[in-house]
Amino acid sequence: MLPEAIRKDFPILERRINGNRLIFFDSAASSLKPIQVIEKMSDFYLYHYSNIHRGIYELSEEATDLYEKSRERIANFINGSSREIIFVRNTTEAINFVSFYLQGKESGRKNIVISGMEHHSNIVPWILLRKRTGKYTMRIIPVTDEGLLDLSSLDKVIGDDTVLVSVTHVSNVLGTINPVKYICKVAHEHNALCMVDGAQSTPHLPIDVKDIGADFFAFSSHKMLGPTGLGVLYVKEKILEEMEPVYGGGGMISEVHCSNDGCVAEWAELPDRFEAGTPHIAGVIGLAAAIEYLERIGLGNIEIHERKLTEKMLEKLQELEGVRIAGPLDIEKKSGIVSFEVNKYTPHELSSLLSMNGVAVRSGFHCAQPLHERLKFTRGTTRASFYLYNTLEEIDDFIGILKKIL
Ligand SMILES: Cc1ncc(COP(=O)(O)O)c(C=O)c1O
Repeated sequence: MLPEAIRKDFPILERRINGNRLIFFDSAASSLKPIQVIEKMSDFYLYHYSNIHRGIYELSEEATDLYEKSRERIANFINGSSREIIFVRNTTEAINFVSFYLQGKESGRKNIVISGMEHHSNIVPWILLRKRTGKYTMRIIPVTDEGLLDLSSLDKVIGDDTVLVSVTHVSNVLGTINPVKYICKVAHEHNALCMVDGAQSTPHLPIDVKDIGADFFAFSSHKMLGPTGLGVLYVKEKILEEMEPVYGGGGMISEVHCSNDGCVAEWAELPDRFEAGTPHIAGVIGLAAAIEYLERIGLGNIEIHERKLTEKMLEKLQELEGVRIAGPLDIEKKSGIVSFEVNKYTPHELSSLLSMNGVAVRSGFHCAQPLHERLKFTRGTTRASFYLYNTLEEIDDFIGILKKIL
């Protein structure tokens, strides 16, 4: 069924770039959007639009219902409950959100563990937290030369002073799939909390937050066929109950009173108390439509299809002279992301040359500079990343173009 049956849902794939057919290999940065998602959002804006949770009138109730049903669908998609889903702008904001939670938490623990293959979104919030509080050390789970996490050092890195272990599920550079269930188990053995950055896994793999055991799980709508400007933070209900709101304003309180002594407020129920102000209503509805689309095809089928694409890309790239691939070559250990360097050109030069031939790939450090330094890709890499709409023929065409350039 994939991808022939669905390419028509993505009209952008008909585009010609510099006179060539578009080959879009940059879904790890942001995915393309199917008509169904765009139509669902425009239908909402055209025929059902109003603000939510506020008006006692038909349209507002309709919009609230659409919004809350969408939250339920999104929660089910990762096996969480609606009360555990907070809408934010993106994965980056979700991780920063957790850093504000830690800032207010008095646990006596002052260490945060991340891995050596994190996106800057899971590094910089912890640097900022340290700046804001003057405490918190960081320790790093090392990356092996093959591009896997060195699990043998987990017990050395995670200690009884660790408050949070925060790791990416899938590396946005190497495609490495990390054993997050095991990492969360070790974190919990040390009574630390566990956060999983699911930005690169949720679009491609079936996710079960309960099975993983994550206390926090973050992902972005725009990488999984949904609109930009919307991210999801799952937080275990037990933790949410003790969390203070990060943002204050309308929609997140049940009562506010002011007197000569100042003002006081009581928080709204979960999860509303974490969503101050008017949320991205159409975005939430769009993400639910994206999930409906993905579920109709089946995450399992998407995974199988992407595996075929990745396998072919790895095989063909390895046949070329002067190409070095980053990360594991074993298809069992990775998802649909292949980053590499060529001797002859810098990643930016190569990506411009590819673009002249209609190919969209990402070049540089992909917001993961420490990982590139660790694996000695000092100029960065060129990254090809796949999704359900890519074809095996596109891989052949890509390799043909690359050979011609080299
Ligand atoms: C692993 C990972 N984490 C976090 C992010 C940040 O996502 P966003 O830009 O949607 O906040 C990305 C984006 O590429 C990513 O790949």
